[in-house]
Amino acid sequence: MADTRSKGQDSLSEGGILSGCRIIVGVSGGIAAYKTPMLVRRLREAGAEVQAVMTANARQFVTATTLQAVSGRPVRDSLWDAAAEAAMGHIELARWADLIVIAPTTADTLSRLAAGRADDLLSTLRLASRAPVLLAPAMNNVMWDHPATRRNLRRLTEDGCTILGPDSGPQACGETGPGRMQEPEALFAAVRDCCLSIPSWGSLATPVRSTPHLDGLRGKKFLITAGPTREAIDPVRYISNESSGKQGYALASAALRVGGEVTLISGPVNIAPPVGAKTISVTTAQQMNDAVQAQLPATDIFIGVAAVADYRPAEKKDQKIKKLPGGEKGLRLLLVENPDIIAGVSSSQNRPFVVGFAAETQDALRNAREKRKRKGMDMIVVNDVANPDIGFNSEENAVAVIWHGGEEKLPQSSKAQLAEWIIDRIATCYVDQLAPANPESVAE
Ligand code: PMT
Repeated sequence: MADTRSKGQDSLSEGGILSGCRIIVGVSGGIAAYKTPMLVRRLREAGAEVQAVMTANARQFVTATTLQAVSGRPVRDSLWDAAAEAAMGHIELARWADLIVIAPTTADTLSRLAAGRADDLLSTLRLASRAPVLLAPAMNNVMWDHPATRRNLRRLTEDGCTILGPDSGPQACGETGPGRMQEPEALFAAVRDCCLSIPSWGSLATPVRSTPHLDGLRGKKFLITAGPTREAIDPVRYISNESSGKQGYALASAALRVGGEVTLISGPVNIAPPVGAKTISVTTAQQMNDAVQAQLPATDIFIGVAAVADYRPAEKKDQKIKKLPGGEKGLRLLLVENPDIIAGVSSSQNRPFVVGFAAETQDALRNAREKRKRKGMDMIVVNDVANPDIGFNSEENAVAVIWHGGEEKLPQSSKAQLAEWIIDRIATCYVDQLAPANPESVAE
């Protein structure tokens, strides 16, 4: 098919980072479909050409007129629309796409895609296209947890689809839990990063799966900590921090994508664990340490992303602490030190390759260099957590990676993109370290 890419067709698409990238945005029938026009608009603002494709049920939740207005193209919804097929047949449309994103992907659509069905336009396009497929699930939390859904997700991941989210929180049905479609801005960031990693797109980075040295990570056992810890003061109060788990979960997903076996030890967070990871939920630093120690003998690569509380209250009161009578000056809380989990991993016998994170608010690089050596890490990833746009509980991050003999700054990007870059750097250092004749592997 001739390449008829049009760049800067109108004011929405002029000069954007995705100028001319061709994206099919599939919409299936869930309440979250009301947010899809915002995703389409963001993609168009970034310069992408967007073809919206609706399932029959999607029409119950969003109108074709809205999607047509924001995409600038008539919406496609049928294999049997003679006029649309005459203009561009469905196989031609499948070849046209650089990327397919389906948002929302309902439980039914997940199941139909997992089964490889091709009985409507959207499922047929997915089957007839070689483009990357991103799925943004949205459903009731019980449906999300159902073994049938887990099975479908596993199969789709094995088939090469990328699952975005879902988020956790209040749902349209009145329940709370995992199953909310990711917000349009987060979806946009994931789609943008995926587009930029497509080789024909003059990418920032090569897709992780196709980089040969990543083969060294295939089958390796990753142990990753993520999220905050909570240290109880009394039955209703605790010391914790703003870690959302997003960066650690993104690393777990990236490690799975290069063929790693991933165990994720997570503090309390509101996001769904990546499909395919063995997830162990903990609350306190002591529990996280115990879980890490239990998994350690079977670990090749340890990545400590968790924001572990350095201190905990010396004692947890059995009853809620009462407000002091008037006149008393403040309440003293005695804190004792928690175990340093990563230092314990670094000093263990037959230690794995150890990667830590450093959350710094000043002199980030200098502090991180010193921290890497002090805690015996092979690599440290430092982020500036004084900047509210990155670091804790944000969609994006910006980091520097420091290892024995090298440092590299990675620009502000989605946590998913950074995770892929970090896994890439880990692969290089890990493979180097294993190579017996390599002088870099000599201890400092
Ligand atoms: O979860 P997100 O909202 O996505 O945010 C991501 C993040 C900001 C939490 C993450 O990028 C990050 O910086 N994680 C490390 C946070 C931290 O605790 O940094 P630190 O400099 O205090 O600790 C250094 C390293 O020692 C970390 O690998 C930490 O996991 C580890 N540590 C710290 C204390 C302790 N008692 N045991 C540890 O193992």
